[in-house]
Amino acid sequence: MGWKSIVLAGGSGSRLYPVTATVNKHLLPVYDKPMIYYPISTMMLGGIREFILISSPGDIDQFRNLLGDGSQWGVSFEYLVQEAPRGIAECFLIAEPLISGHNVALSLGDNIFYGSGLSARIQGACAQPDGATIFGYEVADPRAFGVVEVDAAGMAISLEEKPKVPKSNLAVPGLYFYDKRVVDFAKQLTPSARGELEITDINRLYMQAKALRVQPLGRGMAWLDGGSAEALYEASQFIKVVEERTGLKIACLEEIALHNGFTTAEELRARFSDRAGQYADYVRRVIEREG
Ligand code: TTP
Repeated sequence: MGWKSIVLAGGSGSRLYPVTATVNKHLLPVYDKPMIYYPISTMMLGGIREFILISSPGDIDQFRNLLGDGSQWGVSFEYLVQEAPRGIAECFLIAEPLISGHNVALSLGDNIFYGSGLSARIQGACAQPDGATIFGYEVADPRAFGVVEVDAAGMAISLEEKPKVPKSNLAVPGLYFYDKRVVDFAKQLTPSARGELEITDINRLYMQAKALRVQPLGRGMAWLDGGSAEALYEASQFIKVVEERTGLKIACLEEIALHNGFTTAEELRARFSDRAGQYADYVRRVIEREG
């Protein structure tokens, strides 16, 4: 069976309070589109078409309104609720009825990736049916991240969450690929000291099974997140600068869908024929270019 992708858009968003007092973080704009478009685009670039979006009870309908059933991009969306932010790894328990027997890609809804070779990296991870793949990203100060240490064969040999004395400079971004054991592993977890089911503990179980591959993301890749006011502002600036310089949009879902053959120029033309705004203008240009 193929890959299913969980996109996680719950959490408390406390670092962005008061902005997040009434609005889910993942619906906030990163320059010209909602934050949630970016992780969805990453998975679509890898060829993944089946999505499960998980968010909090009060917010899930807004995602449903924004993304619908996904057919406009030739993909599918199902929606599930996380009752409270009890940790990232809880998503596998929530989604069990939809993912059991499948390989599962997980993307945190506030993680943004951009760079040459991104599609190939995701496709490469999806080409591995067994074990797990995470990524390693070189950062100047790894103490704020999950940190992984890797052996010569590219397998993880240690994992630490926000270590005071990191064993490497490799931070683990919010993009993970697991084989179908992930639900069983999630059932073995107990809440951490902060009361959450930790994704690092899932990764640790794969590591103990000698099945946790670490792919370097490479210095040519940008990895950003929208979790704090400063990071969100910087991410918006980054997207704006690259989009203006190249004339190409980052994470335009219609463009990726068309490029991947998930949808057709005719379908997009009909949907965007009388829609105003610069995003719609761009989609029309893409249709003329590729269609
Ligand atoms: P975090 O950034 O760790 O937490 P948060 O989004 O609640 O924000 P803050 O730290 O400001 O309170 O979460 C990482 C991502 O995972 C983010 O996209 C939200 C998501 N998430 C959930 O969907 N459910 C959860 O239980 C947790 C902990 C996070």
